[in-house]
Amino acid sequence: MKVLVTGGAGFIGSHTCVELLNAGHEVVIVDNLSNSKEEAVDKIREITGKDLRFYRVDLLDRRELEDVFAQNPVGAVIHFAGYKAVGESVEKPLEYYWNNIAGTLILLETMRAAGCKKIVFSSSATVYGMDNPVPFKEGYPISATNPYGYTKVMIEQILQDLCHADPSWSAVLLRYFNPIGAHESGLIGESPNGIPNNLLPYIAQVADGVLPELKVYGDDYDTPDGTGVRDYIHVVDLAKGHLAALDYAVSYTGAEPFNLGTGHGTSVLEMVQAFEKTNNVRVPYKIVSRRAGDIAAAYADTSKAERVLHWHAEKGITEMCQDSWKFIQHSR
Ligand code: UFG
Repeated sequence: MKVLVTGGAGFIGSHTCVELLNAGHEVVIVDNLSNSKEEAVDKIREITGKDLRFYRVDLLDRRELEDVFAQNPVGAVIHFAGYKAVGESVEKPLEYYWNNIAGTLILLETMRAAGCKKIVFSSSATVYGMDNPVPFKEGYPISATNPYGYTKVMIEQILQDLCHADPSWSAVLLRYFNPIGAHESGLIGESPNGIPNNLLPYIAQVADGVLPELKVYGDDYDTPDGTGVRDYIHVVDLAKGHLAALDYAVSYTGAEPFNLGTGHGTSVLEMVQAFEKTNNVRVPYKIVSRRAGDIAAAYADTSKAERVLHWHAEKGITEMCQDSWKFIQHSR
């Protein structure tokens, strides 16, 4: 199938393009490169030995997006493109709502006009909010605490409403937990702009000597060692989850959410130790106060994805640490 991938040059998008090409799909990337580089597209070609089309187009540019659809009869869309930094979204709510929501609406209208009604959407475990018990199940009520999170909640709602109004649509809502790691080649991975917000990129830069020490945000949570627990998932496992979601979108209509996680929680200190041990490096840290908006623990109930998508994560923390470090060393 010809698959249009918005945000295909980004971290999860690029790994998904590799898996799509390896599975024999044709890939068309639409990316404005606001938080990614065109080199990633060449690396995808290098890893797979296959070609793909790349358009530097912003989803807000309706005319250009229509041209992409006119030139490429696509069977389905995987929609990654969007701003994703929680803190920044609090500072710049209008930019976040405009980019993420309006970009998605223009994409959906363009898809409808082109007769393409299958979409796999990058949602987030952030939609489980602050009050649900772990492990998170898809049927739980969803909510948000910041503009970024609200864009995910709102887009899920938009897709639910669209599928309700027109039963020929199919929307798969993938709620990612904490994607880390990189492709085993070391050619593609996560390259955050500036100082990283997320744990693994931060650990990697401390190990690399770019940053002096990790700040561990709180050791007084109700978790085994007091530090925050998250469900880290290897980005290649996550990418494979999109292929399963695509198969589902081809066979079924309606809007359906799925968790993509491992089902296992790892604490901040466990992650520091795993990274040090796996890569034989030092990650100095100090405990500081909690970060606003963080919860003690977040991990997935993975049974729905296993049962319905026939997908489960295969890679463990060691591989995640190894591959993240390999990418950092490659990109020096
Ligand atoms: N942490 C630190 N120090 C750091 C960075 C993080 O101690 O420098 C801790 C956090 O407090 C948390 C854990 O490491 O306990 C993971 O933090 P991340 O920032 O890596 O990830 P989050 O779980 O906070 O957020 C991620 C994505 C969000 C998404 C959310 C969904 O970044 O976009 O998962 O659950 F909304």
